[in-house]
Amino acid sequence: MKLIIFIFLKFIQVLTCNYSTINLPPEHVPYYFTANPEIAEKCRIDTECPYKEYLTEKKYWGYELDHQWGNQYSVPECPGDHKGWVKTKFDQENTFYTQGDFGFVKQQIKELKVLCEPLFQDDSILECSDHLRYCRGRNIMINFTQLASRPDPIRYKMDVLSHGDIGGYCDLNQKELDKQADHISALQSWGPEIRYFSKLKHRPIISNGDCDVVLEKPTYIMKIDATINMYHHFCDFLNLYASLHLNEGPEAFSTDVHVLIWETFTYRSLFEDSWKAFTEHPLWDLKTFRGETVCFKNVIFPLLPRMIFGLYYNTPLIYGCRKSGLFHAFSKHMLHRLKIPIYRRINRKIKITFLSRDTKYRRVLNEEALLDSIKDNDEYEVNRVIYNRNIPFKKQLEISANSDVLVGIHGAGLTHLLFLPDWAAVFELYNCEDANCYADLARLRGVHYVTWKNTEKLSSETDDSHEGAAHAKFANYSFDVEEFKRLLKEATDYVKNQASYQEFLNKISPEDQNNDLHDEL
Ligand SMILES: *[C@@H]1O[C@H](CO)[C@@H](O)[C@H](O)[C@H]1NC(C)=O
Ligand SMILES: *[C@@H]1O[C@H](CO)[C@@H](O)[C@H](O)[C@H]1NC(C)=O
Ligand SMILES: *[C@@H]1O[C@H](CO)[C@@H](O)[C@H](O)[C@H]1NC(C)=O
Repeated sequence: MKLIIFIFLKFIQVLTCNYSTINLPPEHVPYYFTANPEIAEKCRIDTECPYKEYLTEKKYWGYELDHQWGNQYSVPECPGDHKGWVKTKFDQENTFYTQGDFGFVKQQIKELKVLCEPLFQDDSILECSDHLRYCRGRNIMINFTQLASRPDPIRYKMDVLSHGDIGGYCDLNQKELDKQADHISALQSWGPEIRYFSKLKHRPIISNGDCDVVLEKPTYIMKIDATINMYHHFCDFLNLYASLHLNEGPEAFSTDVHVLIWETFTYRSLFEDSWKAFTEHPLWDLKTFRGETVCFKNVIFPLLPRMIFGLYYNTPLIYGCRKSGLFHAFSKHMLHRLKIPIYRRINRKIKITFLSRDTKYRRVLNEEALLDSIKDNDEYEVNRVIYNRNIPFKKQLEISANSDVLVGIHGAGLTHLLFLPDWAAVFELYNCEDANCYADLARLRGVHYVTWKNTEKLSSETDDSHEGAAHAKFANYSFDVEEFKRLLKEATDYVKNQASYQEFLNKISPEDQNNDLHDEL
């Protein structure tokens, strides 16, 4: 019995194509090889394998069961006090690791339980982590027949499925399923869907008319947050990336997979290029299979953007720590897969990107004066940008990934801090009384964070349209020029003192044909 299950748990089996399908940032390849020794061995004996230089060192992401603390993608930096929070420095690091780093992934792996158990090879299987926050299954049937007669558009609905609409041929642990279905909210867990999982009378994936469609490729079913807002939408992508790590196996990062968005609205977003990091196929939604019964050979229900104590929206993060390997790896993975070029520098100036807004609120009223005050500083190279639909998203990423300091007032555009270089700093001009949002995101990404503290040195203009808690976000602002210069200097001084920044500058030599490094235009 145990043996059979073990074989099923090896989720997606063999690397079907050649090494080009690995498509990871070169620095991630050793982790991939360590996790997949059979592929490493294949590469070792294959004269054509282009990744031979990555075979020597064993590297662990940090969620593998045989990994030891310290020997992982990265250890959190915790220069801040731990007293009053936890007993020891290690506890502090480990708490951060579990809250916002690969320790979070490890926790999910530890929690995985088989809820519907196969007896024979072709049977179905369903396994989930606690509260049904991540699930995956094989030979699962979903019956979308009822959608055909449903008039209302579907988004954030919890009644897409009803009893019997999802199931498999396996031994269902109903008691455990009921127990785990306790986070019933659209973006918190898969409870609203998986609670209706039922045992089928026979195996569905035989051509007896059960399945109108059989999907051979792995399919990610996605319930997504607000696609117009980069902060929220990237919560979807970060959780999808974390879920890839949960897949296990050589094909864990494959893009030969499908994505089915759990809405009837046709997906549209300024950030839609980001999907190319995850799938080479067009996106599906609930219209795609309306009225049909679909049988999934492999289906994944990834971690969700609004899980309780999830990532990264409202994540409680322990005081004093920063630098999550998970966020670092996500950043590098996205930049690599989306082919964002990182340019060699032609001078030693600090590249400052000033995010300007063309929205109704949080305009910087004296932006010209602020920019004027630094334009003669020859240590700086300042670029003012408006990240709106006039700049394609990949171009925006390119600008951010080639900046040393990102400056901007509170707003979703600051989510670009995820894609800054490791040595970078972000200067949130004013947090508009939302103190943790970007400060914590910067901590997770491991970039330095500076913000305005002295509210006497700024002034705001409001209209009467908004009262209450969020009123500070519905205003325009003017900033004291000297204080602006002082805080900007704090950010640029930080950058200058980073060894990784100095090393990067020293790579200015033109014959250096390193990885993704390109000549500056
Ligand atoms: C490897 O696979 C890719 C994509 O399937 C294909 O384009 C490429 O030609 C293959 N390369 C070799 C050397 O077979
Ligand atoms: C799918 O659901 C419909 C009604 O909602 C039902 O009539 C049909 O038999 C179901 N299909 C399968 C294969 O269970
Ligand atoms: C902020 O400035 C913009 C652009 O000038 C203007 O349209 C908006 O009404 C202003 N908002 C407030 C709250 O004053």
